[in-house]
Amino acid sequence: SESPPVATPPMGWNSWNKFGCDINEQLIRETADAMVSSGMKAAGYQYVNIDDCWAEKNRTPDGKYEPHRTRFPSGIKALADYVHGKGLKLGIYTSAGTETCARTMPGSLDHEEVDARTFAEWGVDYLKYDNCNNQGRPALERYTKMGEALKKTSRPIVYALCEWGQNKPWEWGRNAGAQLWRTTGDITDTWASVMNLLDQQVGLEAYSGPGGWNDPDMLEVGNGGMTDTEYRSHFALWSLLNAPLLAGNDLRSMSEATKKILLNKDLLAVNQDWGGKQGHKVRDDGDTEVWAKPMSDGSNVVVLFNRGGASATVSATAKEIGAPASSGYRVRDLWSGTETESAGTLRAGLPSHGSATFRVWPSSKPQAAPHTTLSLQAPEYVATDKPFTTT
Ligand code: DGJ
Repeated sequence: SESPPVATPPMGWNSWNKFGCDINEQLIRETADAMVSSGMKAAGYQYVNIDDCWAEKNRTPDGKYEPHRTRFPSGIKALADYVHGKGLKLGIYTSAGTETCARTMPGSLDHEEVDARTFAEWGVDYLKYDNCNNQGRPALERYTKMGEALKKTSRPIVYALCEWGQNKPWEWGRNAGAQLWRTTGDITDTWASVMNLLDQQVGLEAYSGPGGWNDPDMLEVGNGGMTDTEYRSHFALWSLLNAPLLAGNDLRSMSEATKKILLNKDLLAVNQDWGGKQGHKVRDDGDTEVWAKPMSDGSNVVVLFNRGGASATVSATAKEIGAPASSGYRVRDLWSGTETESAGTLRAGLPSHGSATFRVWPSSKPQAAPHTTLSLQAPEYVATDKPFTTT
């Protein structure tokens, strides 16, 4: 069968973070509509993913899934047709266990082939495969079985392992047939959760690349539990980590600030860079950190990050972020779009939990003295050309 299109991390939406089990076919259709009307589809978002709770508690007499009779009365095939009609793709969910995590529907353990066939017949494009109620059976075996069942169908279905990082799925996910694998437990809409997940990504960068991605979990941008400054940092870091960008908010009612984050084309370009090199932490000073990612055009992206409780100035040199030696650099602030020439030290004054994201190209132009600094002033970034001293 054709291999699923995952040359770059999947982009889309998932129902769980905002809606939990409170889902129905109308929500899914309206979300597809909103993905188009908001400009998200045009920006590259594609998957509309249904999470837990879409099916009846019991299988049909012939052993198949039955979509929930009152919440999904038209069935999943009709929903897939609707979503495909919008030029989007439909994702679904189940667990490699006897029941899903919410225990409202059966899991696929020992039903892998019939369920994979059903999903393919319905026109499903993406399967998230959870880990609840797994009866203590080996993960490798459970996840490989579904991977093989999906391959047997004639349909390219993206296979997303949701094993929570318990058995290092980054080491065997590709062999199990998966294109992405969750590295951790669940995200919540809190700053502490985002920091906890971020810290668990350190060292995993070697395992991610085109065709197989580390998944630090879905986005919480726009769900209300964090400030827009925090959501910007969450989104910039997830973009740099080559995370699947699965929005987890209500796309039908987004604030302008939320749209600006999810639709930031410069950050989406970082996430979707064809080279697929995952960003990583290059410096840890406790309350402040520097993360960087090499881009396939020879530029380098840096996130200057203040995770502490007070404002701070963070700086990094071009060398430190992996940029080639050059007499000067062109620096683009990926939130404001402002471009500045720099001698090679990047600096930003950051509010608590704030970050600045720059893309840095070696500049052919000779560098005009003195050195340039870029300063960030919450909530928007402002580029200045005040000189400062570099080391
Ligand atoms: C646990 C997963 O990690 C979550 O992302 C979500 O799918 C829930 N289960 C649904 O029950």
